[in-house]
Amino acid sequence: MIVKVKTGTIIGIDSHPVDVEIDTAMGLPQFSTVGLPDAAVRESRDRVKSAIRNSGYRFPRHKVTVNLSPADIRKEGTAFDLPIALGILATEGILRQESLEKYLFIGELSLDGGVKAVPGALSAAMQARETGLEGILLPRDNALEAALVNSIQVIAVDYLYEAVEFLNGTRHLEPTPSPGDELYRRSLAADIDFSDVSGQFQAKRALEIAAAANHNVLMIGPPGSGKTMLAQRLATILPDPTFEESIEATKIHSVAGILDKNNMLLVTRPFRAPHHSISDAGLVGGGHVPKPGEISLAHNGVLFLDELPEFKRNVLEALRQPLEDGVVTIARSSATITYPSRFMMVAAMNPCPCGYFTDLRQTCRCTPQQIRQYRSKISGPLLDRIDIHVEVPSLGYNDLAKPSVSESSATIKKRVDRARSIQKERFGNGRHTNARMSAKEIKALCPIEPEGLDLIEMAMDRLGLSARGYTKIIKVARTIADLEEETTIESHHIAEAIQYRTLDRSDV
Ligand SMILES: Nc1ncnc2c1ncn2[C@@H]1O[C@H](COP(=O)(O)OP(=O)(O)O)[C@@H](O)[C@H]1O
Ligand SMILES: [Mg+2]
Ligand SMILES: [Zn+2]
Repeated sequence: MIVKVKTGTIIGIDSHPVDVEIDTAMGLPQFSTVGLPDAAVRESRDRVKSAIRNSGYRFPRHKVTVNLSPADIRKEGTAFDLPIALGILATEGILRQESLEKYLFIGELSLDGGVKAVPGALSAAMQARETGLEGILLPRDNALEAALVNSIQVIAVDYLYEAVEFLNGTRHLEPTPSPGDELYRRSLAADIDFSDVSGQFQAKRALEIAAAANHNVLMIGPPGSGKTMLAQRLATILPDPTFEESIEATKIHSVAGILDKNNMLLVTRPFRAPHHSISDAGLVGGGHVPKPGEISLAHNGVLFLDELPEFKRNVLEALRQPLEDGVVTIARSSATITYPSRFMMVAAMNPCPCGYFTDLRQTCRCTPQQIRQYRSKISGPLLDRIDIHVEVPSLGYNDLAKPSVSESSATIKKRVDRARSIQKERFGNGRHTNARMSAKEIKALCPIEPEGLDLIEMAMDRLGLSARGYTKIIKVARTIADLEEETTIESHHIAEAIQYRTLDRSDV
């Protein structure tokens, strides 16, 4: 007798249909799996056997073969336990085979028959809907994320026997309702705000410009000057993500297995701050069982690289392609996997190795040679992707103690949103921004008043600004003009944009 159970496997961030086929035949007791299963799938045999027995059912005393098809896609992880167990119980007549047809099943089994959460449940629920199934039956801890998908039934269980009784019609399980609005409200209550940051007007201004067009930013300042604090607040002034963007980000976090089960939908943009000791696989993704890296977890949000020069060179190199393409491609022997990775990069560094070069209260002991060497650790090509450099000086005690007159994130965000809508009109699409303008677009869309052109020329000559700085100045000036709702780029827009090229100057 052959029983088929529908499930899925995650490739990249999407779930692809897999059929679990259980074949039982007379013969010596034997339990084997075929169809390219990896080590984890093989281990699932032991869990399935114990879970069935410890749920009070008999494990077949003959030959059981489990086949996962199609054979040519790689299957990883533990989510096949539940469909395999249910399929085996159906071959034993404990379940009616027809009862399995309406649902997609995923879940890891524990030895005692418990059903444990698995990564990628949101993607699996989307697969269930796309393939026209009535619903998905899965671990309770995955139910809320799956319930984000409308128009399918989401049946949550804690134990294998509950699934069996539900499918046999002897137990009623209410489908998990869509969390919708309630989740939105719960998640939106951010507890950080730009008004928490005293002073630092130049840095805040730079971050506002950056947010207005997704310009990557580098903050340079001594320890304790507030760089981390500022970076953490950047997501609070970026435009709200669309529902699709939230779902996309949630899918990535789900596949990575790091979704907070109380906060299922990422309704605010993600903020990721990996430590500088991270490996290239940790940053861009990969590994034996491939997982999205930090740049994908930051998709549609902010990637904060604190102490930029301390990152390993190969790790920073690995960033270049995804920064350019908005996706990261990981080649493996069996397949090529793609993860989305369109993020805004915010980096921070000390001005010198000791950190106090620009500090008013402590003296820097670094030689100019040491400072040059430290700054040269960030490679030119990476620096090439950063439009805005901004100094974040240390604040005196008085500045910090003064009552805060800082603008709130909501006020800043209004201006950002306005500049974004101007760009939306300009490019006819919500995702393209000034930061991503091509040379052709710069020519066509950035009219500059004559005085502005003179200013750029002067800056290039006198300050020794590099040629690569040139287009960045124009892109940033375009954004500054958009914030003022000016069509033509004026000389004061250019003048401000030039200030954000600190590291290009040949005199430091
Ligand atoms: N401008 C500021 N306004 C309010 N608090 C500040 C400011 N700058 C620094 N702080 C305080 O100092 C702490 C350290 O700041 P942090 O952002 O970690 O500095 P950095 O990342 O530059 O080393 C913060 O947690 C905050 O309490
Ligand atoms: Mg810091
Ligand atoms: Zn120093």
